[in-house]
Amino acid sequence: MQTTLQALQADIAKLPVDAIVNAANSSLMGGGGVDGAIHRAGGPAILEDCRRIVAKQGGCKTGEAVITTAGRLPAKFVIHTVGPVWNGGHKQEAEKLANCYRNSLQLAVENGCRSVAFPCISTGVYGYPIAEAAKVAVASVKAFLEENEGMESVVMVCFDGENYEAIQAVLNA
Ligand code: APR
Repeated sequence: MQTTLQALQADIAKLPVDAIVNAANSSLMGGGGVDGAIHRAGGPAILEDCRRIVAKQGGCKTGEAVITTAGRLPAKFVIHTVGPVWNGGHKQEAEKLANCYRNSLQLAVENGCRSVAFPCISTGVYGYPIAEAAKVAVASVKAFLEENEGMESVVMVCFDGENYEAIQAVLNA
C-alpha cells in the first residue's frame, strides 16, 4: 500500500491522527513552541506520562523518541522526540534530525499507528535552517516508508508559510 505523504499548514494539536509528534527537549517537562501548544491543549495527562518516563529512563536523548497518551487531544498518542540544536552543521545535526523522524515512525508502527503528523522539528527555538531541515525531514520519512509497510498517512505539519513552502518544494522536487 502506498503511504500518503503531504504538507499541511495547521496547528498540529488539532489533528485527528493516530499520533502527533512533539518537538520536545530532553527533560520532557514541556516548553514553548509546539511543545507548549501540545501540553496546553492536551492537558496534564501528557506531563504525567512524561514524568513516569523520566522516572524510569531519565529523559530522552537527542534523536530518540518516547510515546505518551495524547490526553484531551483528538490524536491517540503523542510521540515526543528531541531535535538537535543547530550548531553550524558540523555537529551531526542532520543525522540527529533524521533519527528523530525515523525513531518516531518506528515507535508509531510499534504502537499500531497508521497515521502520523510531524511538526518541523528543530526549526523554531533550536534554529535549524528551514530549507535544510525540510530536506532531511522528507528524506528520512521517505526512507522509513520504503522499508516499512502499513502506514497510511504521514503529514508534515507547518505552522508558518516559510516551512510550508520549504516542505512543498522538497516534496515536489
Ligand atoms: N503546530 C505545528 N507546528 C508548530 C506549532 C503548532 N501548534 N507551534 C509551533 N510550531 C512550529 C514552529 O513554527 C517551528 O517551525 O514548530 C516548529 C518547531 O519549533 P519549536 O517548537 O521551537 O521546536 P524546536 O525548534 O525543535 O525547539 C525545541 O523548543 O520549547 C521548546 O521544549 C521545546 O526546548 C524545546 C525546543
